Formats: sequence, structure tokens, C-alpha cells
Amino acid sequence: MTSLKMDASSLVIFGATGNLSKIKLMPALYLLEKAGQLHPETKIIATGRRDWDNEKCVAEVRSWVEEAVAGRFDEDTFERFSFRLRYIRVDYSQAGIWSSLKQQLEEEISAGTLSANMAFYMAIRPAEFGLVVDGLGDNGLLNEATGWRRVVIEKPFGYDLQSAQLLQLEISRHLKEEQIFRIDHYLGKGTVQNVNVFRFANTMLEPLWNRNYIDHVQITHSETAGVGTRAAYYDSSGAMRDMIQSHLLQLLSLVAMEPPATMDAEDLRDEKVKVLKSIRPISEEDLSTRAFRAQYAAGYVNNEKVRGYLDEEGVPADSNTETYAALKLYIDNWRWRGVPFYLRTGKRMAKRQSMISICFRYPPQQLFRDVSQSEMKQNWLLLGIQPCNCLRMEVTVKEPGFEMQMRQTSLNASLLDEGEFKVDAYEGLLLDILQGDRSLFLRYDEVDYAWKIVDPVIDAWSKDRNPLQTYPAGSWGPPESRVIFDKPQTRWRHSLDPV
Ligand code: BG6
Repeated sequence: MTSLKMDASSLVIFGATGNLSKIKLMPALYLLEKAGQLHPETKIIATGRRDWDNEKCVAEVRSWVEEAVAGRFDEDTFERFSFRLRYIRVDYSQAGIWSSLKQQLEEEISAGTLSANMAFYMAIRPAEFGLVVDGLGDNGLLNEATGWRRVVIEKPFGYDLQSAQLLQLEISRHLKEEQIFRIDHYLGKGTVQNVNVFRFANTMLEPLWNRNYIDHVQITHSETAGVGTRAAYYDSSGAMRDMIQSHLLQLLSLVAMEPPATMDAEDLRDEKVKVLKSIRPISEEDLSTRAFRAQYAAGYVNNEKVRGYLDEEGVPADSNTETYAALKLYIDNWRWRGVPFYLRTGKRMAKRQSMISICFRYPPQQLFRDVSQSEMKQNWLLLGIQPCNCLRMEVTVKEPGFEMQMRQTSLNASLLDEGEFKVDAYEGLLLDILQGDRSLFLRYDEVDYAWKIVDPVIDAWSKDRNPLQTYPAGSWGPPESRVIFDKPQTRWRHSLDPV
């Protein structure tokens, strides 16, 4: 997020009565109001199919925000926020809906009650992205003659490479690339932005940041939650599309990219694309040692018995959708050649946690004769993304006493001081959209390369009708996932604490 000047603007949310709006967008906008970050004339137009009026909309949003921000709710802020909010019913199946929306928006623009700078946020089903952009574009609402027009597209951008290319073709009939904000909310997370700061605002690690010192990198996103009420979407997606194609490949490119010429959006994204382009393709022959999938069975999460995936509501009894996926990637470039990057994600795992773990090589020589080989540990650098927002560096030290014994200790850099709040990813990203800063949004070529990496795996998995491996809910996934490790001594890193 940079401090670009913010114009007065209008944020039109499609799908404003839905879940994303409830749990993320409205609470984030309220918190921006509270932090004094919204332009005084910025308005929020909530649209949805439901037959609500302004009053009903404000009442609903109030209850969502109260629940989501808990101790940070206050009446004065909400009152100010509610003055910005209004509701327009938009049912895409009705004839004339787009011209009627255009008329309502333009009347307000002419009356001076609405800014002509407009961001349209697609908090809707991916199948409707094209339809809504067509509706807006065909009716001149994306034309920038009187103010800027931006479109925010949530993930997933496409279902595979081909559908992503088709969607891109469809929306680019109406939009220039600079108008499109493809959101990956992971890029808005505090620690994720800290990867750049950590790498490029410190000189200490740069000399070590390469194949000469790094043994391997692990990127993990684990959740204790199951599929919940999202089976309709998730069962046709699976862990590889849902998390790896998008969020985890983005993390990988931030860890691995070269220093950009500047921190401007295009320079940053050029470097991320170079990483994605350098990833060695996964062929059918090496699929079994480069990718692994599994599905959760019944088990215990936080001491509570939970169902297996196949018994979840809305999941077909014979579903072959993976809820756990792990991938080994090699970046064939000068810096990283030969260093495996292990990506893994799963639902119903032992802990809710996201972290980047960088494992350094063993020292070239074991100089301490009385110390057994098993006591010698590799150094790790751990970037906690959530729930802990932190950075830890593990080093080996001598234990006190007469013997030469060693143990691991970690140098801790907390990213939040006491009393500081972390800014939710959506708060920062919404502000960036209104300010026109695209550096934390995906350019189309990033999406395209990301699909090229995972498509062969997804395709091979879809043809394989063998029953999936399972893992008990509440576990760390099947031990067999270690088949993707290059070295027998490699272990999944589950914790930020020394092991
Ligand atoms: C979403 C996925 O993009 O990210 C979800 O669709 C996943 O399945 C979520 O649970 C994880 O994000 P966060 O911010 O809740 O960790």
C-alpha cells in the first residue's frame, strides 16, 4: 500500500448481501471509516437480488459489522458510515436491469450526490463475472470519460487455463488492464507484505538468499475448518485450485523474486512473473513425486468429533475432490536451481496456521566432536503469516554446563507491538482499489502462468479414479505426503517453535 492521493469515489458492490460482503467487505469498510481513511464524499452502493431498501440494508450491515469487529464497534462511527451506504436492487435475470442501474447512477452523478469515479466490486459467483462486466460495459458504465472506472474481480479467475483465458478475453472487450483489480486477499496480509520489506530493506540476509545456503523452502496454509457451507463451490475446485494456484504461488513468487527496479506495480509484477515462468513444468512421469493429494475422513478437531468430507452437506458420496494438496516446485533460474519449494495446504488439519519456513543447509563441516549428528540442526527462518504475525530465526547455541551440548533457540521479531492492531487484508486492499494502487493485485500474466503450473496436475488427478488417500480430521495430513521430499531427512515444519 502506498500513500497515493485518494479521490472522492463510489464503490458499487455486486453481491453485497452475500457472505464475502458480510464477513469481510463491510467490516473492512467500517474499520476504514473508523481510521479516518475514507474520503468524505466516498459512497458505498450495495447491490443484490434481495428485495431490501436502504433501511434494511443499514440494519443488516450494522449487525454484520458489530459481530465482525467486536470490541471496535462504536455508534458514532457507524452512524457516519451508514450515511455513505445505500442499496439498489439488481437482479441480473431482469430485462433492462443494466440501463436502469446506469440511469440511477447517472442521475445521482448529475445531482452531485455521487462521484463519477467508480469501482465495481464483484463479490459474486465466478460464473457471473463475465455477465456483469458485459452488462456494465455494454451500457457505457466502464467508460472513463467523466471519471475513472475500475473493476475488482475476486478469485478464482477461471477454473483452469482455458477458462481463465476466455474470461480474460471477455472482460478485456470492455476494460483496459489498468482498470482491472484481480484480488488475492493473501497479498493484503501483513506478513506477506513484510516479505518484501524483510528482504529488501535489510542487507543481512540477501547474501544467503539463494541455492548456496538454502536447503529448501516450505509454504504451508493449514485450516482446522472443514468445507462448511461452501461444498457447491469447493467440490468442483479442490485444494489445488482453491489455495495453491492462487495464494501459495503468490507467496512463492514473493519469496523467490529478484529485487524489482522500483516497488511500483508493474516492476513488482514483472519480477513475480519471471519466477512463475521459471518453474519447471510437472510432467506425467514425475507427478507421483511432485504432487500429492488426499481427503479428510472423520476425526477430532479441538476435541470435537467432526464428519469426514464425503459426509459433509452437499458433497457427493463418491467425490474425488482433494481437501489436502502438496506440491514440489523447482525454480530453474540462477538463484534457485535445485532448491525444492514445498507447498502444502489442507482443510480439517491439526492447526489453523500459515507460514513460510526457510530451511538453511547444514554447516559444511561438523567441528564439535562430542556432539552427535542428531543434535546438529539446520537453521530455519520462519515467517508466521497467521495467526502469529511474526518472524523467527532459529539458531543453534551451546547449552549451559560443562558438556558440549547444543540446542535450538529462536530470535524473535514480533511484527506487532503491544496495543497495535493488524490491518485486515481487505482493509488495505479496498483502500488500494480506491487509491488506484495495483501493486498488490494480480496482472493477467501472473494468473495465466499460475494456471500453466497447476493445470497438468489437476488434469491428471481428474482422470485418476483410484480412491483418494485419506487423513483423519485434526491431523497433519497423510505421512505418505513425504513422498515428494527430495531428501529422506526432510520433515514438514508444523510449528513456529523450535523442534
Ligand atoms: C480463500 C479460500 O481464498 O482463502 C478458502 O477460498 C480459504 O477456502 C481462505 O479458507 C483462507 O484465507 P484466510 O484469510 O481465511 O486464511
